[in-house]
Amino acid sequence: MKRFAAGVFITLLVALSVIVSDSRDITADILRLPSEAYKFFRNGEANEDVDTVGTRWAVLIAGSNGYWNYRHQADVCHAYQLLRKGGLKDENIIVFMYDDIAFNEENPRPGVIINNPHGNDVYKGVPKDYTGEDVTVDNFLAVILGNKTALKGGSGKVVDSGPNDRIFIYYTDHGGPGVLGMPTSPYLYADDLIDVLKKKYASGTYKSLVFYLEACESGSIFEGLLPEGLNIYATTAANAEESSWGTYCPGENPSPPPEYSTCLGDLYSVAWMEDSDIHNLQTETLHQQYELVKKRTANDNSGFGSHVMQYGDISLSKDSLFLYLGTNPANDNYTFVGENSLRPSSKAVNQRDADLLHFWDKFRKAPEGTPRKVEAQKQFFEAMSHRMHIDQSIKLTGKLLFGIEKGSEILNTVRPAGQPLVDDWDCLKSLVRTFEMHCGSLSQYGMKHMRSIANICNAGIEKEKMAEASAQACVNIPSGPWSSLHKGFSA
Ligand SMILES: *[C@@H]1O[C@H](CO)[C@@H](O)[C@H](O)[C@H]1NC(C)=O
Ligand SMILES: *[C@@H]1O[C@H](CO)[C@@H](O)[C@H](O)[C@H]1NC(C)=O
Repeated sequence: MKRFAAGVFITLLVALSVIVSDSRDITADILRLPSEAYKFFRNGEANEDVDTVGTRWAVLIAGSNGYWNYRHQADVCHAYQLLRKGGLKDENIIVFMYDDIAFNEENPRPGVIINNPHGNDVYKGVPKDYTGEDVTVDNFLAVILGNKTALKGGSGKVVDSGPNDRIFIYYTDHGGPGVLGMPTSPYLYADDLIDVLKKKYASGTYKSLVFYLEACESGSIFEGLLPEGLNIYATTAANAEESSWGTYCPGENPSPPPEYSTCLGDLYSVAWMEDSDIHNLQTETLHQQYELVKKRTANDNSGFGSHVMQYGDISLSKDSLFLYLGTNPANDNYTFVGENSLRPSSKAVNQRDADLLHFWDKFRKAPEGTPRKVEAQKQFFEAMSHRMHIDQSIKLTGKLLFGIEKGSEILNTVRPAGQPLVDDWDCLKSLVRTFEMHCGSLSQYGMKHMRSIANICNAGIEKEKMAEASAQACVNIPSGPWSSLHKGFSA
């Protein structure tokens, strides 16, 4: 059995290296600035803008749970510490995290969360605004809109902002084309998020908003969807069709302390935070950080990295980070001077494989013949069988709908850049539910197939036909926890 598991893992790694080897070269972005923007780059004059700053607000959200997803909550805790040091107040920082990591039985340092191999605890003091089953799409959107009556559970804290305020939103989790994960069902779909951002804009309750997003295919959340003119600047860890990457993973260099069997952070996330940690943020612009984070996240085009993207009102990126994140007075003398916070690249782990890596590392370290070893093997095996089941069911559904040859072609179509994933989001959600009813939960891994389901909608397939095809493709739903629908549909 051990040999079997190892074989599967190695097959997976080989498959992975094939996938990553064709990742495209990075094309340089050109930023055009209005002429008055240049004054912001000059030291000293930057303070001119400070007077117009209202209150700084932040919403931080980790969309996952489970110890194998340690890194998302670690990212969010780190972001909280950074903002506090920057001078934001607790009443203006709203944190969403499932909160099952710090005291998880797998955590080698109970009550402590780290986001870097040499990092200090980032868990202490983090407000527990929305935890456990209160981490939901509805609460997240209500918090952004400042709508207290729409909340269910949680601390009741919302973004109660005014017209001069700046808002920073940071989301880190798994995702897929057009979708972001949540520890609860349903997931967050791009159209609902964009609608809420438009509503927030229409309510006139912010001056500008910056959105940092880490997830697989995160570009698809804004691509062709986020219009200019909302005073929103967004950057994403990946483009619309690639994974984002976990980092500080077992076996990587630098690796987490040996007692950790999990990744400690995500590549794009630690890149923006480790850069922000050490500078006087009055001297660094959003654009400068974007360039730096883009470079670090690309990981020298090694294949272990992704393409950081920017969307919305790009001209906002002339703003200093200080307007959104504040600045730590201890860094006053550390002026941003370019690429001084770049770390040497190392192997990173595709977000989608970080759970397997965790189970594998746990299995490897557990003493022979212990219940722990058996458990790790079972977890690895269940996660793998779920993947195979979902991959095969989607493929088969496509063939049943479009024929053997056309099937995979239609499922794998990627629309040209600038176009949204799907025209009819209600169709996408309805077909996701239909598929899941017959084939079981897509779950964390299965979000990658969202583009295939979107393409089925784009081809004009209706619910009844989808139901027929998925019923035929899936004779039954596997009994493993990954496939189980007990948490509800992901749409
Ligand atoms: C707030 O949410 C409630 C409940 O969902 C809704 O009825 C109300 O219209 C919302 N208020 C605003 C201002 O959007
Ligand atoms: C920055 O440098 C000045 C001049 O050397 C010094 O007086 C000040 O204490 C330094 N500030 C910090 C936060 O280290």
